[in-house]
Amino acid sequence: MTLQISNVPLAQAECDWLIVATAEPVELAGPLEALNGALGGALARLKESGDLTGSAGEIVSLRGIAGAAAKRVLLVGLGKAADLDVQRLDKALMTAVREVTSKRSMRVAIAVGGAGGLSRPQVAQSAATAAVVGGSGPGLYKQEAGRYPLESITLIESSDDSGAFKASVERGEILGQSINLARELINRGPHEIYPESFAERARQAAADCGFGCEVFDEGRMRHERFGSMLAVAQGSERPPRMVVLDYRGADPGAPTLAFVGKGVTFDSGGLSLKPTDGMLTMKCDMAGAATVLAAVTAIARLKLKVNIQGYLGLVENMVSGTSYKLGDVLTARNGVTIEVHNTDAEGRLVLADVLAYAVDAGVDRIIDLATLTGACVVALGEEVVGSFTNNAAWGEQVMAAAKSCGEDMWPMPMHSHFADLLKSDVADVKNVGPRWGGAVTAAKFLEKFVGDKPWVHLDIAGPAFASSSKPHRDGGATGCMVRTLVEVASRAAST
Ligand code: BES
Ligand code: MN
Ligand code: ZN
Repeated sequence: MTLQISNVPLAQAECDWLIVATAEPVELAGPLEALNGALGGALARLKESGDLTGSAGEIVSLRGIAGAAAKRVLLVGLGKAADLDVQRLDKALMTAVREVTSKRSMRVAIAVGGAGGLSRPQVAQSAATAAVVGGSGPGLYKQEAGRYPLESITLIESSDDSGAFKASVERGEILGQSINLARELINRGPHEIYPESFAERARQAAADCGFGCEVFDEGRMRHERFGSMLAVAQGSERPPRMVVLDYRGADPGAPTLAFVGKGVTFDSGGLSLKPTDGMLTMKCDMAGAATVLAAVTAIARLKLKVNIQGYLGLVENMVSGTSYKLGDVLTARNGVTIEVHNTDAEGRLVLADVLAYAVDAGVDRIIDLATLTGACVVALGEEVVGSFTNNAAWGEQVMAAAKSCGEDMWPMPMHSHFADLLKSDVADVKNVGPRWGGAVTAAKFLEKFVGDKPWVHLDIAGPAFASSSKPHRDGGATGCMVRTLVEVASRAAST
């Protein structure tokens, strides 16, 4: 896909589809008035007949038109300008792009104007991301993919072509490509994506984008006392891997931000075996690790002036004669002993060692991402990320970054009594609590491995993988939280 910026009048944009976003009520002024004139008043007639209102998500397509260089025009509604925010804008632009990417090789132009309180650069960034993300889907193994990358995308900006605008377009494109990287890794089956192959993809991305990548094999992990994570791995034919991504964009003395991802490439539940329905989507259980790899890739390509360490805990949770068992007592890297009460609560066992490793590496602040609990989906639904923290200020910073990216996140409680529910008779802690409050007890478990570092745990079990398509997105992996992590890094960057 080629991407360019142009300042031609809308009617002169040569393309297969000209996409124009309109607020409610539609006002035929400025560039839109000129387009209406070129189209012989077609837009005014649509408005008159009530077919063009600009309501959120409304799609109006004009085909076989005369008077414009575009073959077709697609109008997408933004809703009332006063209600417009980044999420609404993203959804509208994604809906529009998805309307035109079911056919191959489309050349698309998108009219970019300031919308509501959103600046032109913000709109341009969203448009670029949508153009990239909307052009690829989950049909990775279909003979006919059903969704195709745009051949070219032109962002039409009527005012002066400022440097800020160009930088935003580039940022939007890079974010889109990283979101697609995460989606692709998550959407691929566990026959292809397992700890070794995932680590290889990380190595490749690091080489392509210029950051460091170290891969720990089983021997190294044993040497580093990853007793908790190795127990999860021991039932699988596929050996585990722990990957350290190392991006240094700031001075060596600058604080280091750590992103830690749960990378269970397939979660069968182990001996606490999942039923078929629950197991069906468990290729998505490495979404945390995919998000971390994708975000670090974007941060490196954007050359942000920040130091980031990414940690991927890659393992398969399987059933065999060598599987770890209920009643096993594991010793994590930091010495904490864990009595296993459920082998399906494996994500926290993986993160325990990886978090402890990040702490020992001397990082300053931590965010972990994990498809950790069904309980979080029960609490917040499929679209909202649960946020847990040991440090209110850090939690609020991450929350603010998510909000500015239009990604929904909500704070969850961390009262100390939840930790009491994890008391074991034989060990320091057991790996599950009772049924109620399962997302919180999982977070309280993780808290035992982060020392006194400011830490945010993001449970993405709901939003990481969508059960069905919606107008603004395909089903399957969503690439959620890539934008938020990059935004957190941007805000931490020295200028
Ligand atoms: N990977 C699952 C959580 C999950 C559920 C992710 C649904 C995405 C969608 C995790 O390893 C798990 O199995 N959690 C258990 C914990 C329980 C045994 C305490 C769960 O949520 O049932
Ligand atoms: Mn599990
Ligand atoms: Zn899991």
